[in-house]
Amino acid sequence: MTKVIAEELAKKQRAISVSEFFTKNRHLLGFDSPTRALLMTVKEAVDNSLDACLEMKILPEIKVILKEITESRFNIVVEDNGPGIIKQQIPNIFAKLLYGSKFHSLKQSRGQQGLGISMSVLYSQLTTGKATKIISKISPNKPAHYYELQIDTKNNEPKILKDQTVDWDKDHGTKIELEIEGKYLKGRQSVDEYIKQTAMANPYAQITYLNPQKEKQVYKRVTEILPKEAREIKPHPHGIELGNFIKMMHDTTSNTLSGFLQKDFSRIGAGTAEAVLKEAKLQGNNPRKLDDKETEKLFNTLQKTQIMSPPTDCLSPIGFELLEQSLKKQLEAEYYVSITRKPDVYRGNPFLIECAIAYGGNIPQDSTLRLVRFANKVPLLYQQGGCAITESVLDTNWKPYGLQQSGSNMPVGPAVLVVHMASVWVPFTSESKEAVAHYPEIIKEIKLALQECGRKLGLYIRKNIRAKEQREKAGLFENYIPELASSISNLSGDNKSEIENDLKKILKKHIKNILGENEDENQQVRE
Ligand SMILES: Nc1ncnc2c1ncn2[C@@H]1O[C@H](COP(=O)(O)OP(=O)(O)OP(=O)(O)O)[C@@H](O)[C@H]1O
Ligand SMILES: [Mg+2]
Repeated sequence: MTKVIAEELAKKQRAISVSEFFTKNRHLLGFDSPTRALLMTVKEAVDNSLDACLEMKILPEIKVILKEITESRFNIVVEDNGPGIIKQQIPNIFAKLLYGSKFHSLKQSRGQQGLGISMSVLYSQLTTGKATKIISKISPNKPAHYYELQIDTKNNEPKILKDQTVDWDKDHGTKIELEIEGKYLKGRQSVDEYIKQTAMANPYAQITYLNPQKEKQVYKRVTEILPKEAREIKPHPHGIELGNFIKMMHDTTSNTLSGFLQKDFSRIGAGTAEAVLKEAKLQGNNPRKLDDKETEKLFNTLQKTQIMSPPTDCLSPIGFELLEQSLKKQLEAEYYVSITRKPDVYRGNPFLIECAIAYGGNIPQDSTLRLVRFANKVPLLYQQGGCAITESVLDTNWKPYGLQQSGSNMPVGPAVLVVHMASVWVPFTSESKEAVAHYPEIIKEIKLALQECGRKLGLYIRKNIRAKEQREKAGLFENYIPELASSISNLSGDNKSEIENDLKKILKKHIKNILGENEDENQQVRE
């Protein structure tokens, strides 16, 4: 009987292609509601465009057009002036899941997984049955290639419906056009907000955006200077797991253990390699000829050896000055403060935290603090509750910094808080890349950044509130001057209006002293 059941079960076993998997699990990639799907599709295309432009050191010029076909169906066009994509790669990039150039490199970029844009193509195909249209050109002297693509989900391979050479009035770049089931809404998690925040975190990019209501927004670049190039780095020995270490030993092009350690990892020079191998008693071996015991010994010795932290020039922050400038462009606040922390390391991966606060002005008084999160310059609009950035904000005591807070709730006050994490590998909690995982090293750094900004904010608020109170007290005293002058005049017999004038002069001098003193202090806070 059991044999029959086992044989029946055996007939049902078969491999599942990654496209079939994500067809059923589209929520894992953030395509779980029509509103979110619209945002994800735009986001995947725009993030790719920004990555591609930076890769070739091109100042990005990106156009995004959303057209409403029916209330629940949209046409999306994203066009960039990036380097373009060679003809042979176009079908795989857009119509094969888990295909990309970024997954295998440790480099700060928006894309990581090789899933983003092909998932949008799959979603379009699933919800509208339409093909995705791509046009791409790599140089003024070469023709542009036009493709209409779908995904063969059973095999996770591209299905080419059209493949043509066309004229395109552009030197180089890529344009993608998709039709999807979606829903357009305004608000904190909208495409409008995503574009606005993307412009804030990428001040060197020019983004033109036409929303379904035909409202056009042009986000002009704040700077013509491209950010420092994010360098690719090798894995750090302390951030690697045994399984990966074994795989690297098999794949290495080096024929000696010393060469393998020096070439395939960061921060291992000849001296360190020699010391590690001596300690593990493994000199001169070929990395592919080590048995299990020797491999583990080498791995454990590496973990125990003191090795310099990985290089941090692989990180490309927004920069606190530009972050503040972008905030000023988008918000009319009374006070701004911003900082960029020094890089740190989690599981062998370098990362850094930046933070900015805008306070007062037009920001609503009695609302909870508005948190704006970024990872590698990409706005994170969903899953705020499950993000390490949010946890760090809630874990910080904001009262000393002049905001109200009850328990570990979001603080209350007229403030917008921006937090950016830049890393060669952002540890997201899921493939939809919306929340940062809760690594203690990351939370600690975010909290330190919040405290640094918070202290400056607190100083500003204290000084200003004190000045305001003193001004109010002085105003109150002025109302009593005529009465006081008349009593003094009755007692002393001096002229009442002269006493009144003297008292006014004293008050004026006092107010001037207070204001002068506070202006100086405020100036210091700003500096
Ligand atoms: N507009 C573009 N211009 C040039 N190259 C592009 C463009 N869009 C995508 N690519 C290339 O296609 C690859 C696949 O893109 P895709 O969005 O699927 O994955 P990714 O960006 O590598 O990672 P993620 O899944 O995290 O977005 C990219 O790695 C990039 O090399
Ligand atoms: Mg991508």
